[in-house]
Parts: sequence; structure tokens; C-alpha cells
Amino acid sequence: MVRNILDVLDLSVEEIDELIALACDIINDPKAYSERCRGKKLATLFFEPSTRTRLSFEAAMYELGGNVLGFSEAQSSSAAKGESVADTARTVSCYADIIAMRHPKEGAPRVAAAHSSVPVINAGDGGHNHPTQTLTDLLTIYREKGRLNDLTVGFCGDLKFGRTVHSLINALSRYTGIRIILISPTELKLPSYVKNDVLKKNGIPYVQTTELESVMPELDILYMTRVQRERFFNEEDYLRLKDSYILDPKKLVNAKKDLCIMHPLPRVNEISTAIDSDPRACYFKQVLNGKYIRMALMLRLLEEADR
Ligand code: CP
Repeated sequence: MVRNILDVLDLSVEEIDELIALACDIINDPKAYSERCRGKKLATLFFEPSTRTRLSFEAAMYELGGNVLGFSEAQSSSAAKGESVADTARTVSCYADIIAMRHPKEGAPRVAAAHSSVPVINAGDGGHNHPTQTLTDLLTIYREKGRLNDLTVGFCGDLKFGRTVHSLINALSRYTGIRIILISPTELKLPSYVKNDVLKKNGIPYVQTTELESVMPELDILYMTRVQRERFFNEEDYLRLKDSYILDPKKLVNAKKDLCIMHPLPRVNEISTAIDSDPRACYFKQVLNGKYIRMALMLRLLEEADR
């Protein structure tokens, strides 16, 4: 059976908990998994730039004993000659056992999945969704806090265009005792559809503010985000908003001692490098967790496809 992961909600809470458990097992005993995908091929179809997502997918497949093919920009594929996403997916599924795809257009991975005979994983589509980043974030929270319940989570920065924020809010809304604090400039507030369809619908308590320092003492998790230059319609607005929040050691004075500072990366200016050596900085742990959770996800999807 072919199963696609286009949205984090394609996985039940039980399945997410199982993937986290599997990723933890891989972390504890990587050798036991080093041949599990021998003979399998991952295709990475990246129509938009990426460092972490593409390379962690590729490293994940190599560490499972499989191989990788693909492209890292649309210009080096026949998309540059006008080939559709549908035809690309149908073609690539003749060569690979599983596809990870990033595309600037919302919904493109869903089109690919409809025309692929192998599982398609959404590796980020426009400002919409980034489910494997969300799995990475959940694994990180679990490893740092030992739980996914009873947490106050602050999201700070570009909450309008930040697809990782939308996906993580969706995922956390299915756990109990979650409280959300939304910190952004007015122009970059969380879209109403996420507030209405996710937070309000699930009865998740939330507050909106423009001030980071005033809410800092309440936070268990601080999820910083980059202002997404590539999604702005004009450069002037980007330049005005890009440095709205810069986390530096002074701003952490009233933070909890066990605060977990996360960022999906890449960062531009929003976290000072002076924070990198703070034990509460978890963003490079997130990078590594991304490889392990993608190993777990591909392993499960390929096992299901072989049944
Ligand atoms: N977090 C993330 O998606 O990073 P990349 O854009 O480098 O893949």
C-alpha cells in the first residue's frame, strides 16, 4: 500500500509517538538499522533551496543502507523545459522507491502524490506545510523535555509565512495541556485560518503579543523563526520587518533555567551567535534529530509499501 506524508495530520498521534520511539531506538543503536533499506532508492526532488532537509533525507537513506538520486534545483531538471509536477512524479517513481519533494507552490507535493506509484513525502511546500520539520521538532521537544504534553510554547517572528510554525501548531494541538504564545509584528501574525481551524477549534489557549521579553518567563519552549524574505511581495516591507526580534543573552535574563530554544534554521539575524553556547540552545540538536526522524519515517513508509 502506498502511503504519502503531505501534512503532519496524515499521521495519528499514536503513529507520531511510534516514530519518535523508533527514532530514539535508532539513536541508541544505529548499527542495527544500517542495512534496513539495502537496495532501496530515495529520490530528492528539490525545486526550492535547502540545506538541512535535503541533506538529512539523503544522509538518512545512506545510514539505512540505501541509495539516493535527485536534483537540488528546478533548473537542473526538465521542469526548466516546462515539464509538469505530475509528469515529473510519474517519471521519478519509475526509478525510485520513495520521493521527498520540496516545491515553492502550496499543494505541489499533493499533485505529485496523485501521479506517483511510490510514497511521496512533502519536504516543504510554499508557506503551507513542512511535516518532517514538525516531526523533527516533536522529537527534539520529547528528547529535551521528556514529554509532549503540558507545555507553554512561544512562537516568535514570522508567523504568517512560517510553514514550520503552522505545522507544529497543528501537531501540538493534539496533545493535552498545551498553551501557545504568538509573538510577532502585527503584519506577520499567524493567519486566521490557523487560529480558527486549529487553535480555536481544538480549544487550545493562546495569546498574541508583539513583545518577546514580557512573556519570556512563562515559556517552556521558545520557537524562533526567520522572516521569510522569499515570500514577501516587496523588499521594503522585508527590510522593515526582518530584525523585529533578535534573541540575545540580555533577553534571556528572565527565562526559565530549562527553557528549550528552538529554530528550524536557517537563521539570519534572529538569534545572536552568543546564544549558541547557552545550554538552552537546542537548534543544532534539532538539525541532528532531523536525520533520525527521517530515517524512522522512511523505514516505516517503505515497510508499508512492501506489504
Ligand atoms: N529547516 C529547513 O527546512 O531547512 P532547509 O531549508 O535548509 O532545508
